[in-house]
Amino acid sequence: MEKIVSLAKRRGFVFPGSEIYGGLAGIYDFGPRGVELLNNLKKAWWDANVYQKENFFGLDSGMFKNPRVWEASGHTAGFSDPLAECRNCHARIRVDKELGNIGVAADEKMSEEELNALFDVHRAEIACPVCGKKDFTAARSFNLLVKSNLGDFTSEGAEPVYLPGEACQGIYLDYKNIVDSMSPKIPFGVAQIGKAFRNEISPRNFLFRTREFEQADTQLFIKPNENKEAFEKIKQDRWNWYLSLGIREENLHWKQHDRLVFYAKDAWDIEYKFPWGFDEVEGVHDRTDYDLTQHMKFSGVDLNYTDPETGEKYIPWILETSVGMGRMFLAFMLDAYREDDLGGETRTYLAFSPKIAPVKACVSPLLKNKPELVAKAREVYQDLKKVVPQIAWDDNGNIGKRYRRQDEIGTPFCITIDFDTLGETPELKDTVTLRHRDTGEQERLSMNDVKKRITDALA
Ligand code: GAP
Repeated sequence: MEKIVSLAKRRGFVFPGSEIYGGLAGIYDFGPRGVELLNNLKKAWWDANVYQKENFFGLDSGMFKNPRVWEASGHTAGFSDPLAECRNCHARIRVDKELGNIGVAADEKMSEEELNALFDVHRAEIACPVCGKKDFTAARSFNLLVKSNLGDFTSEGAEPVYLPGEACQGIYLDYKNIVDSMSPKIPFGVAQIGKAFRNEISPRNFLFRTREFEQADTQLFIKPNENKEAFEKIKQDRWNWYLSLGIREENLHWKQHDRLVFYAKDAWDIEYKFPWGFDEVEGVHDRTDYDLTQHMKFSGVDLNYTDPETGEKYIPWILETSVGMGRMFLAFMLDAYREDDLGGETRTYLAFSPKIAPVKACVSPLLKNKPELVAKAREVYQDLKKVVPQIAWDDNGNIGKRYRRQDEIGTPFCITIDFDTLGETPELKDTVTLRHRDTGEQERLSMNDVKKRITDALA
């Protein structure tokens, strides 16, 4: 993990948020390479969940919502984690996670009483991560919703408008608008990538648990009780999506929840083998009619669906997939991280699938101080950029150093322009060297063939 965190910063993937002010816990920025990787992941997700599906619609709902939304959803009352405070230094711990760290099965869905009973048995084994003392208060439920004073001009902040605790609520609020404007037939789905904020007690493990993150959600609206087959199909689709982008199957596994959050009837996680063990990347939830029933009750608006053929009226059930983009990003980075020996030297590389690699190809002149090589290489670069925008130019250092740098970024192809490209060996005129990241192998190809290789790898 330290290697990934360091590479991520050194190579412009992820920076600690507000770093020059000492940072802000649980907040990270995606740097120039990170934002490209993130956008590629989002694009691949959108492609699979909107364009490749029939009857799926995209949405981008406003982040702020009427505060009643979070009452209806159950978040103001039930969206909490168990917090205890160190009596010595006042550091706060998340009790279920600390119990988990010493091998005691606990989670945030336990009641306060259940959790305190377990905590009391094991409190002598749990040391404060800051001062090392083992003297904590009892665990109490701490609500994770983040408040704002949007539109509140009183000084008391009497009526907080919450930041979204989960992005998917926007989909439920626009369900009626989508039905009215798009006339979809059930089953239909809505996909959205949106921000979520949680007052996490102990943000940790880099991008894994942050206080600000993005969630990519799909909500499939189905007929009541027609959940079994559709649920299995969704689970399979999501699993296959990770494999299609190069995650190694042995690093994934399914975990069914034995305790369910307040809205779910069944819940499964796709877990990734993080350095600390298998842990959740994506949740697949059967939310039944909970959400629409609650919003109908609290808003007073009829959210029944009317079958256009039979006239039958019902509240649709909802099957959800929800993944944090930062967690997904971290899983893809960890999975791509490799160290090997190439040409007698140890090297580090990121074996990203070309589809998600932040830089698809890097163009270089063999020598930086030969104007005719640089001019030709610039021509190749400009020409390729029209077809593949995510390409880099690199003429710093010797060619070996450039290759190593691109390996660390995960660039699948490097293109080098040399004197043969200019015609020094007449039969090689207008050919270039194409170097492959994973093997370090090099081929001599025409630029048309190089373009085809790259576009084929991205298809
Ligand atoms: N709408 C359902 C929902 O929000 P969740 O299991 O709380 O369910 C879904 O969150 C996904 O969001 C998780 O699987 C995880 O990938 C991501 N996620 C949740 N909390 C997070 C956090 N504090 N930091 C980063 N990602 C988080």
